[in-house]
Amino acid sequence: MIILAIDTSCDETAAAVTSDNLVLSNIVWSQASEHAKFGGVVPNLAKRAHEERISWVVEQAIKRSGVERKKIGAVGVTIGPGLAIALEVGIRQAKNVAGFLNKPLVVVNHIEGHIFSAMARRPVKSGRGTADVNIRFPAWALVVSGGHTELIWVEAPGKYKVAARTLDDALGEALDKGARMLGLGYPGGAVLEKLARRGDPNSYPLPLPMSGQEKRRKFSYSGLKTAMWRLIEKVKESKDALNAEQIENLAAVYQERAFDHLIRVSRAILVSERNEAQDMLCGGGVASNLSLRKKLRVLTKEAGVKLRLPYSARLCGDNAAMIGVAASFKAVEGKFASDIGLVDRNPDWKIDDPVIS
Ligand code: KG4
Ligand code: ZN
Repeated sequence: MIILAIDTSCDETAAAVTSDNLVLSNIVWSQASEHAKFGGVVPNLAKRAHEERISWVVEQAIKRSGVERKKIGAVGVTIGPGLAIALEVGIRQAKNVAGFLNKPLVVVNHIEGHIFSAMARRPVKSGRGTADVNIRFPAWALVVSGGHTELIWVEAPGKYKVAARTLDDALGEALDKGARMLGLGYPGGAVLEKLARRGDPNSYPLPLPMSGQEKRRKFSYSGLKTAMWRLIEKVKESKDALNAEQIENLAAVYQERAFDHLIRVSRAILVSERNEAQDMLCGGGVASNLSLRKKLRVLTKEAGVKLRLPYSARLCGDNAAMIGVAASFKAVEGKFASDIGLVDRNPDWKIDDPVIS
């Protein structure tokens, strides 16, 4: 089925057209540079920017897909988790378009979207071939984004059990905070990665979060953040600023510890629960990090599962193509909103809430 999908859960205004798991168009208008000077997402600013851009983004998604409007079978939209006033903008637009086209609405959980991003296929016309996205369920899924760090057991599409989530900060959030401490701006995950490549991950001592407690099946990044703050102060000594080499080394040390914690907790679960899963889907902005990918390859090999990553970095970060792919699974099962008028934002929607279906 052809789906027009919309996501305005945070600071990206996104729309896409998908046909089952094939991505026909994927438009993302990021607001990151507008929020950068505030060091984080400003909800009111995000809402206004979504309102100004959403119609254009949706129009572009339809136009670039080459799909006639009447061929669209349903509209998919993220209703949570995310920023309430930002979600509202996408939901309103989705209702309007669904009403105008006289098509049903499919509500999607944003995390569910990140899970299914690894199943998206690129059009053959891109000339770059397409990866094997034939995922067998049950499967593991690891979502690593700015707002979420969750290892999820996917019994089947729509049936989720969270095996581990974070007690405090998400991995992307922790990387952003570390980058900020090093004066690298916001969001800093990608800049941190670049600098970390030139640094030595063993140049300074930094304790691994909750070391030795992997059995607790929880992620936690607040301790690492505090330890990093102390380390920076120590490295600076009495000087005002860090030099370039110190920044690169600190970036490498911090990123390495953050990833090692993710891997250790995940390994404890994957290895102890060796089961019939053959695949691990991985999505979210941090999944575009090459150093993390390397560690994930080692982990999945050890756990006997195949690592499935989105075909492009654009599909790792927030986008609507992943929402279209997730929506198509629901559409196939006839899971449409029964009353469009009642569809509402659900900012704290957990993926394992029973109402997920
Ligand atoms: O999935 P996403 O776009 O939005 C959320 O749903 O949160 O993820 C954004 C997060 C930010 O924390 C950003 O710093 C991080 O993903 N990120 C990266 C990289 N690219 C984006 N972190 C590490 N390495 C990267 N290359
Ligand atoms: Zn996201």
